[in-house]
This record gives sequence, C-alpha cells and structure tokens, in this order.
Amino acid sequence: MEMLMFHIDKSHKQPIYMQLYEKIRNSIINGQLQEGEKLPSKRLLGDYLSISQTTIENAYAQLMDEGYIYSKQRSGFFVSDIDTLPLTTTQREINITPISYTEASAPRYAFQLGAIDKAHFPFELFRKYAKEAFDTLQHTLIEAGDQQGDFTLRQQISHYLFHSRGVQSTPEQVIIASSTEQLLSIITDLLPEQHTFMLEDPIYPQVPQLLSRKHIPYHFIPVQQDGIQVEQIAQYDDNIVYITPSHQFPTGVTMNLQNRIKLLKWASAHPERYIIEDDYDSEFRYEGKPIPALQSLDKAERVIYVSTFSKSIAPSIRIAYAVLPIQLAKQYQQTINIEGGTVPRHTQYMVSRFMESNQFERHLNRMRKIYRQKRDVLLDYLSQYPDLCQISGAQTGMHFVVTIVNGLSEQECIQRFKAHAIDIQPLSHYRFHADNPTPRFVLGFGGIEDSQLANHAEQLIHALQ
Ligand SMILES: Cc1ncc(COP(=O)(O)O)c(C=O)c1O
Repeated sequence: MEMLMFHIDKSHKQPIYMQLYEKIRNSIINGQLQEGEKLPSKRLLGDYLSISQTTIENAYAQLMDEGYIYSKQRSGFFVSDIDTLPLTTTQREINITPISYTEASAPRYAFQLGAIDKAHFPFELFRKYAKEAFDTLQHTLIEAGDQQGDFTLRQQISHYLFHSRGVQSTPEQVIIASSTEQLLSIITDLLPEQHTFMLEDPIYPQVPQLLSRKHIPYHFIPVQQDGIQVEQIAQYDDNIVYITPSHQFPTGVTMNLQNRIKLLKWASAHPERYIIEDDYDSEFRYEGKPIPALQSLDKAERVIYVSTFSKSIAPSIRIAYAVLPIQLAKQYQQTINIEGGTVPRHTQYMVSRFMESNQFERHLNRMRKIYRQKRDVLLDYLSQYPDLCQISGAQTGMHFVVTIVNGLSEQECIQRFKAHAIDIQPLSHYRFHADNPTPRFVLGFGGIEDSQLANHAEQLIHALQ
C-alpha cells in the first residue's frame, strides 16, 4: 500500500484520474511496481487517497486499455509483463537545441526567401472549405486516397496549367507530392536506369543535396544572362538536365526562346534524355508577356514539368505537382512502392475547391498586384543609389538580385548587414563553383509587410553607406 502513496493535486488542471494513471504507469515502467504485483482494490485506494472510486476505476481502465495491468475475476488488478508491450513511454532527455529566433534576436530587417504576404491570405475561404471537408465529406476523405493525388485536384491542376502556362497534360499525367524535393525524388525513381544530371550553378541547393543523398552523379553548368549555358550541355554525357527557365533560381534570369529550342532539340535526340523544368514562381510575372512553359513547346515528350503551391498559395500548404511525359506516367502507375500519398486529402480537397471556384485565379490576380507594389517600393528606393547597388532579375517572382557596386567585398557587406540587423542571403550561398567576386545578394520581399518596405530599403542603403 505504501507503494501507491502518490501525491494527487486536486487543484491541478490535469484530471485526477489522469494524474493517478500516470503515477501508476510510471511506477510500472520504473520497476517500482513489478510484474504480477497486485494493485489495491478501488475501494481501499479511494479511501486512502480520498478520491472517488469512479476516478480510480477510470485510471485502472486506462491502464488496462494500454496493457499495463490486467484484471483477474474476483481477485483484482495485477501488473502486466511490460516487456511484451510494444513500447514504454518514458520520456528521454533530449539535448537538441531548437533552432529558432527569439523575438529579441530575430533580425529586424529580414529579406527572407520563400516568405509570402500574410495580410491577404484568403483565410475565410479556406475556413469554409475546411468545414466542408470535415463536415460534409468526413467519411469520404477519411479513406486513404490515390497515391498519385486525388483525381479532382489533378484535374484542376491540369486545367489550370493549360490555361496559365500552356502546359499540355491529362490528369493521369499529374502527380502530387508534399514538396518539390519529394517530387524530384519520385522522378529519379522513374528515370532510365542510367541517369546522371546537369544542374544550373547557382541553384536551389535542395536539388544537388537530394541527388547526393540518392548517390546520383551530377555536373554543374554556369548560368549566364539568358540562363544555363546550353552549348556546354552537349559536352557532357549526362542525360538529365534540371532547369528553372522562366525565372532562374536565384539569379532571376529568363531563358530565351533560341536556347529553349536548342535544349529541346538536344533532349529529343535520344529517348533517354529528359529536361526537368521547375516553374516554381512564374505566376507572378510583372513585365512583358507571360512566357509559356518550356513543356508547352515540347513535341517529343522530353520535358518533366514541376511546380508548387508554395508561392501561389502558401509554403505551409505542402503541395507540389509534376506533369510526367506519357511514358513516365505509365511507369509511375506500374510502380508499386512509390513515395506517394503524402498530401492529406483534406488539404487536397481545399485546394481543389479553391481552384474549381475560380477563387485561385482571382487570388493570383490580386497577389500579383500586391507583390508588384511591394517590388516597386523597393526598386524605386534602391534605384536612387546606383553607386551603391544595382538590381537584376526583378521581372518575376518574389525575389531579385542586388549587386553591390561600391567596392565592398562580400564579407564586408555581410558584416555590415549583420551589424544593422539585416537578414539577407549572399548569392554565393547558392553557388557551387567560384564566380566573379562582386558581391551579390538575393533579396526576398514577399513576406515584408507593406508598412515596413520603406524602412527595410532605407536600412539596406544605410548599411552600405
Ligand atoms: C527553385 C525552387 N523550386 C521549388 C521551390 C519550392 O519548393 P517546395 O514545393 O518544396 O516548397 C522553391 C522555393 O523557394 C525554389 O526556389
């Protein structure tokens, strides 16, 4: 009886039966209560701890449900052999420091890439779609869905891509995953057995990191004024090229039509060559005519088109999509163990409703204006200081490149930005081979509140003066 002399705190917000359950469970896990030992009867323990028998009944019932104790008819409750339980839930001490900024240490002027405008997110609509998903469709959506992604969402994506980017597809060719990185992982499982990559330099670093993890060889090819140097591609034996032709990440340059045609010719010369086109942010083009996706020019089924809702809806929505050439789509459907079914069906439903009701298109039109205004405030301010910095790659997306031309080295700029509480990435962070030492920085503006844009720009200039 002494063994169950637990301290129960009746004023605590945790229910008493849970406190008792946890104390007995911990005593069993720690070995203070041993296998086969009899627990006191509900009446005795209730009297002893001055709590109701119903409370004890609830605690014992929970312990029985989880297998910590068992009951024998007319004898009482006994401690089980916990070695046979699937796991014991003692909390381990974990010494990992979470990487997060506290309010005080967060840089006050953050030009973050990947951040979006929060003030205009259509919360009201998403609340409505979530309600529909959990109320009306609760039984349907609780079932495991198609590993390729829900058909209705794939239908919407296929329709949208044709109208907005000229991408030709059927829903059967569309696959859905949680991230661009995951799509690339799936795609590499479908590519011809012998596949090696050519990558842009600089690049979205997740791509070479993924290939390294999968032990897939790759070469870097430098990016120039009009994208990857297409002439260099023919010099390698590699059969796959990954590019961001509409808005090269991170330089922001656009691949011209001539180079697009050359690249398609290169790919169509061999059935095992493919181009992976990552079209991550082309919804937001501010100047000139929209450039159709490379896939729209592809007559030979050589382009694998990849994009994401991370910019067009939100990075937390975790939906990226690919359009596979027909041959690869067939292969996908025949592959049994593929990394599919990773996006919750409720989220797929919400996004599909957003698209089907034309609200997505309206949202994009609204956001394009908002991001253009944000960009213009920064460009108007920074362009007054041509002796300090120059801008490039600002026609599309939510970032552009600032080249520092006042003679400071990259390291000096980094130190100054740090001292001025500015968070901005040097372009060299995305580069794998050394280049011209003129310091260049990638300035993300999507997440900066409208009221803060001017002081962000001022601070940047202030740091450079
Ligand atoms: C080149 C590129 N591709 C894809 C993404 C988005 O990837 P995800 O769909 O994993 O959010 C980004 C994000 O910044 C990017 O820069």
